[in-house]
Amino acid sequence: MNNKSRKTGSLSAAASGTLSLGGELTVHRLGFGAMRITGDGIWGPPKDPAAAIAVLRRAVELGVNFIDTADSYGPNVSEELIAEALSPYPNDLVIATKGGWNRPGPNQWTHDASPAHLRKAVEGSLKRLRLDRIDVYQLHVPDPVVPLDASIETLCNLQSEGKLRLIVSVQNRYSFADREWDNVVHYCERNGIAFIPWFPLGAGTVAGRLLERIAKARQAKPIQVALAWLLKRSPIMLPIPGTSSIAHLEENVQAASLQLSEEEYSELTGIAELAS
Ligand SMILES: NC(=O)c1ccc[n+]([C@@H]2O[C@H](COP(=O)([O-])OP(=O)(O)OC[C@H]3O[C@@H](n4cnc5c(N)ncnc54)[C@H](OP(=O)(O)O)[C@@H]3O)[C@@H](O)[C@H]2O)c1
Repeated sequence: MNNKSRKTGSLSAAASGTLSLGGELTVHRLGFGAMRITGDGIWGPPKDPAAAIAVLRRAVELGVNFIDTADSYGPNVSEELIAEALSPYPNDLVIATKGGWNRPGPNQWTHDASPAHLRKAVEGSLKRLRLDRIDVYQLHVPDPVVPLDASIETLCNLQSEGKLRLIVSVQNRYSFADREWDNVVHYCERNGIAFIPWFPLGAGTVAGRLLERIAKARQAKPIQVALAWLLKRSPIMLPIPGTSSIAHLEENVQAASLQLSEEEYSELTGIAELAS
């Protein structure tokens, strides 16, 4: 896949601008979250694996070059689908994966960020993603019964061994309608750390009168305005909206070209509406 064939007309994630990860890798600021390409309950294969593969390929065609995944999505399924769809990978594609959960069943997540588990998780991700080194690795969540230092030290050791390239980002739940971690966004901004908001669309429920009014005026969808707000919120913001549908993917990528005016932005910033 060459660069030319990866940007279709004006529909491109490149319109979101770029972000440097650890001063080493540059990605477009609109990424893709690969949790929802698995089965129900983030468990097992999707109903239509060919459709999931098509979504991943279309994302990359549209200039998305940051994909977020985790060993626990499926488990294993998301990473395996990414490799099947995209390996050998384009040079500029960054796949960020994470470890720290066990999956006993659908919708069930149990902590394990012990050194032994993390080591095994990284080895597994390398194999499934068909990589010699993972570009960006994240501790999925601190484990309440494992000292955080022990989890981080393990990841640093794996980095020294050349299995992980960068451990440089923060990933917290955040969206137009959910500003709980605003202080963390500020911290990341001050320190040049990428902030990856998960649940950036409230799983498709981000809505409300103000979003609708602005969307109507801009001939866009409320979800696109919510994404445009996130992108304008901070230059270190790297949203990873997830979808299993090409139509939704294209809508989300289109939001990268939606430039909110300062007036629209400050009006939106003043109010967080979540209608379901
Ligand atoms: N760090 C963590 O603990 C953590 C936790 C959760 C998620 N994540 C990561 O964050 C990513 C995003 O989070 P998320 O999937 O929970 O939430 P999200 O991106 O806010 O929402 C995804 C949901 O919204 C729907 N959707 C997507 N685009 C849409 C559109 N244009 N119009 C209407 N509905 C749309 C999707 O359904 P369709 O499939 O029908 O489009 C999907 O169910 C995940 O994929 C994962 O990589 C990380």
